[in-house]
Amino acid sequence: MTYLSHLECSKCGSRQEASKPQGLCPCGGPLLARYDLAAARRALDRDAIARRPGGMWRYAELLPAGDPAHVVTLGEGGTPLVHARRLGQRLGVAQLYVKDEGGNPSGSFKARGASAAVSKLREFGLRDAVISSSGNAGSAWATYCARAGIGLRVIVPPDAVESVKRQIGMMGARLFHFAGPLHEAGALAERAAKRHGWFNVNTMREPYRVEGKKTMGLEIAEQLGWSAPDAIIYPTGGGTGVVAIWKALDELAALGWIAAKRPRLIVSQYEGCAPIVKACREGKEQCEVWAEVRILPGGLRSPKPPADFLILRTIRETGGAALAVSGDEALEAMSLLAATEGLHVCPEGATSLAALRRALADGVVRPDERVVLMNTGTGLKYPPLLPEAAVETIPPGGEIPA
Ligand SMILES: Cc1ncc(COP(=O)(O)O)c(C=O)c1O
Ligand SMILES: [Zn+2]
Repeated sequence: MTYLSHLECSKCGSRQEASKPQGLCPCGGPLLARYDLAAARRALDRDAIARRPGGMWRYAELLPAGDPAHVVTLGEGGTPLVHARRLGQRLGVAQLYVKDEGGNPSGSFKARGASAAVSKLREFGLRDAVISSSGNAGSAWATYCARAGIGLRVIVPPDAVESVKRQIGMMGARLFHFAGPLHEAGALAERAAKRHGWFNVNTMREPYRVEGKKTMGLEIAEQLGWSAPDAIIYPTGGGTGVVAIWKALDELAALGWIAAKRPRLIVSQYEGCAPIVKACREGKEQCEVWAEVRILPGGLRSPKPPADFLILRTIRETGGAALAVSGDEALEAMSLLAATEGLHVCPEGATSLAALRRALADGVVRPDERVVLMNTGTGLKYPPLLPEAAVETIPPGGEIPA
């Protein structure tokens, strides 16, 4: 079912075996899955794949699971690419699209990575895992681990969104608060994994989360009639999403399913945690640790993204950019998407629209371009951040006013 052939270190380029569980390369670099794309190119027909049932596993040959029996699925992927005509009109961008990930199981795009990676845990017979997360990844992993019968410990910051914490608890994972920065929580998870024999599934620590997220890029290309947009704007924290979309487009070009032209990948971050934006501006190849994180509750809180060098390389190679927006701009964009398109996006997702406005003002994106905004999750998880509705009261015996 899969054309997975081996793993390759994204830092030193060494080849590692895919037939056993792997964490980081001995050099410390994240491993990426590699496929026999020449054989896949001979055997696979993109149009036949497009006729399969929806959902990310329609691309099974380009995903890592060795056997359909190992796949842990809840119907993730196959999300709509919405042509945002009314919003586009307002911004003067006729070809504006939103890839809306809010309908995924667990309520965010993190379901894709969890489905792919938990399938591999099941394949390898691993029973216990640990993850640190700002919330959405933890809830997605809790969801898929519950489905697979795998024990999971989740470390979140105390100000993680309450509904997400409850979601994790209901899925039966053990939940821990840790008040330190996310990269220190990562070290905590690594120590616990070593001590107790659990598998550390943090961002970029294992190779298969990226593979699940890659299907966002495969879907966008398929939904645009096997072509790439001019720009994709992606809310970025740890960075697996950006790396994954870039990988998807590379693989599609190697398969001959799309032309070689790549979209510019544009990263959006909050001003209160923008290590990628800073490194990009300074022409650095890695991020410094962002000292003081001040952002809205939720994702995008990686002070030192584990995939920093890969994200920065992707921005450089695609001629992209990195833009920071304020929390207020994100909340305003969230309301605008709701009122103009009926899209109830999460604040992280809304940073992509706020960044587009800046990109248009700065000439980073031209109005005649085809632009895809990534909405990474549903806004329904964030009740305290949603603006209060203007409620009118009808007294007993009263009527609805005109
Ligand atoms: C809703 C949401 N969007 C985006 C992100 C960023 O994800 P990535 O790790 O792919 O950069 C996160 C995670 O922090 C998230 O929860
Ligand atoms: Zn290496």
